[in-house]
Amino acid sequence: MAAIEKVCKFLDEAGTYSLATVEGAPPRVRPFGTALVYGGKLYIQTGKVKSVSKQLARNPKAEICAFKDGKWLRVAGELVNDDDRGAKVAMLEKMPSLKAMYSPDDGNMQMLYFRNAAATFSSFTEAPETICF
Ligand SMILES: Cc1cc2nc3c(=O)[nH]c(=O)nc-3n(C[C@H](O)[C@H](O)[C@H](O)COP(=O)(O)O)c2cc1C
Repeated sequence: MAAIEKVCKFLDEAGTYSLATVEGAPPRVRPFGTALVYGGKLYIQTGKVKSVSKQLARNPKAEICAFKDGKWLRVAGELVNDDDRGAKVAMLEKMPSLKAMYSPDDGNMQMLYFRNAAATFSSFTEAPETICF
């Protein structure tokens, strides 16, 4: 399994992760659940109308954190907008419940991929493992 697939699998199995952004000085954090590897990149999905989207447009620096079975994963990097229709379609196919809220051509659905990312798996018992992509 490619390293980036391992990161996505952990996010899928955790089910929910926290996404932190910055808004000027203060941090903002909220629960997210979307994750997809497409074209060798790790994507998440949101709506362009949301505050989180506006924060990332101003400052793409972001970090996510997920926890599962005594291990946690942090992915720190930049989240970059990608209007690729294929990425949107692939996300809707992977997570069909999103179809109730989004479609590829609604002008709202947004795909963001990690750039300059470091993903670190940690636990209390093992040495951390970092994957860069
Ligand atoms: C379990 C869970 C998973 C969620 N996953 C996502 C997601 O992947 N993308 C998204 O845009 N919103 C998701 N949400 C909703 C966001 O947390 C919510 O819209 C939040 O207010 C967005 O942050 P903002 O208000 O700073 O824009 C999820 C909510 C929950 C409870």
